[in-house]
Amino acid sequence: MDEKQKVATALSKALPEMDIAEITDKIERPKDAKNGDYAFPTFFLAKTLHKAPQMIASDLVEKIDQAGFDKVVVAGPYINFFLDKAEVGSDVLKEILNDPEHYGDLDLGHQANVPIDYSSPNIAKPMGMGHLRSTMIGESVARILEKVNYNLIRIDYLGDWGTQFGKMMAAYKMWGDEPEVQKGLKEDPIDTLVKLYVRINTEADEHPEYTEEGRAWFAKLEHGDEEAWKLWHWFREMSLQRFQRVYDMLNVHFDSFNGEAFSAQKMEEPIQLLKDKGLLKESRGAQIVDLDKYKLPPLLIIKSNGTTTYITRDLATALFRKRMYGFAKSIYVVGADQETYFRQLRMALKEMGFNWWDQITHVSFGLMNLNGKKMSTRKGNVVSLEDVLNDSIDLARKQIAEKNPDLKNADEVAKQVGVGAVIFHDLKNYRRNAVNFKLEDVVKFEGETGPYVQYARARAESILRKGGIRDFSDVDLTKVGDSAWELISFLGQYSEAIKRAALNYDPSVVAKYALELAKKFNQYYAHTRILDKNEGQQARLALTQAVSNVLKSALNLLDIQAPDEM
Ligand code: ARG
Repeated sequence: MDEKQKVATALSKALPEMDIAEITDKIERPKDAKNGDYAFPTFFLAKTLHKAPQMIASDLVEKIDQAGFDKVVVAGPYINFFLDKAEVGSDVLKEILNDPEHYGDLDLGHQANVPIDYSSPNIAKPMGMGHLRSTMIGESVARILEKVNYNLIRIDYLGDWGTQFGKMMAAYKMWGDEPEVQKGLKEDPIDTLVKLYVRINTEADEHPEYTEEGRAWFAKLEHGDEEAWKLWHWFREMSLQRFQRVYDMLNVHFDSFNGEAFSAQKMEEPIQLLKDKGLLKESRGAQIVDLDKYKLPPLLIIKSNGTTTYITRDLATALFRKRMYGFAKSIYVVGADQETYFRQLRMALKEMGFNWWDQITHVSFGLMNLNGKKMSTRKGNVVSLEDVLNDSIDLARKQIAEKNPDLKNADEVAKQVGVGAVIFHDLKNYRRNAVNFKLEDVVKFEGETGPYVQYARARAESILRKGGIRDFSDVDLTKVGDSAWELISFLGQYSEAIKRAALNYDPSVVAKYALELAKKFNQYYAHTRILDKNEGQQARLALTQAVSNVLKSALNLLDIQAPDEM
């Protein structure tokens, strides 16, 4: 039982008429430790009980069973709880050491299905830093939701359809025969295709007919033209291979790559439904859905040239996912620039009569700036994620060589540290804030970084190797000593952090928890000799093991590896 539950249980015996969940909600954590570990305010009871809060508090405290607490006292309108440190601490450690992998697990999801749409890069373009954000936030949110017992379906909704695809084909048809392009396609196909895409976009300013040409190719694709399909297949396969390299580096694995093209085959249903409900309107040759009453721009469903749009495909996608997975919620990890878009999608589904429209959840995130500059694909100043990861690994390798020149598997560790550093940097702030990315700040062993957390855990592992014991089942854990209390109490708050992270789809809660735990462990280590052959040594080693376990678990929720040595 976690600490807060202990307090809630004690209170609920004195307050039988109140729901325990409601009691738990009211329990606070005093800012100042001298006011106890937990506090229960009584103001909110004054109305129903017709008594002054102070009175309520003194009455209640009489009825509370003090077992398991150092003391329970009245402080004005509050009841303050002081936990029995030795006992609570020993319980926390026991729970962690008994089953480290499941420590912190909660059951908020009851195994309900949750498809999560993330990464979702566009074919024949490189994956940029924006897609890094979606990939990392998405993977971490997925892991956090699994930890609270949802069943996740990871979907890479590839941008493998749309007018930009037609442009790519038009560019390839126009310039693909040029020797330089041919050479490039052999050496680095994606890069070459990107260059073609950039070229047609740049030159279309002077040659509006290029844009027309692109539209025409897309129309061909939609109508099943064989040459267009062949090109499509080729672009898609090449891109997937390229993306896969990055996913492997990041340890991300999808259950489905059904993208826009897949949904493009399923559009009759939503279009028919919109018609049946009388929601489709003609506007300058195009078919639109008016969302004026929600103060949202109209949806363009079918363009004047007869082709469908991104949102029509997303409507089909939403219907398909609901039918396929019967989801409890359906998550989309996409940049904040698409907030209005997802509002439109939700309202369109509402208008169509689907009562599950509010299960559509946009987990949005802010921009990623590279050294202060914005990044965009259309004009070509893209930094590929793979390059960034490789640079980060190189920097990690250099630092490791300085710090620990004898490290055996240095290459493997450099990968774990380099990649982990990039991920941690991405996840440590609330996702909707913009992120500024500067490699030197990211791969540092001090400060609020991934390597700092990994290093704290590696230190714990090194102490444990010296300590020589790994089985703590017979150790008296109450002997750990008062100086460990703050650290242990923080270990006890792990599931609270996970809950908050899950409810807000916010990995930064876990990242901040990991940082704080690493910091608290380093402080403890600075003030307490863990390896000191006195009575408490084994209990202190048990604590060290518990810290190592929880740090590893938190890093794992962020999709970051935890090397034992670095
Ligand atoms: N491919 C899109 C992009 O790169 C993201 C797709 C997000 N998912 C969705 N179902 N709309 O911006």
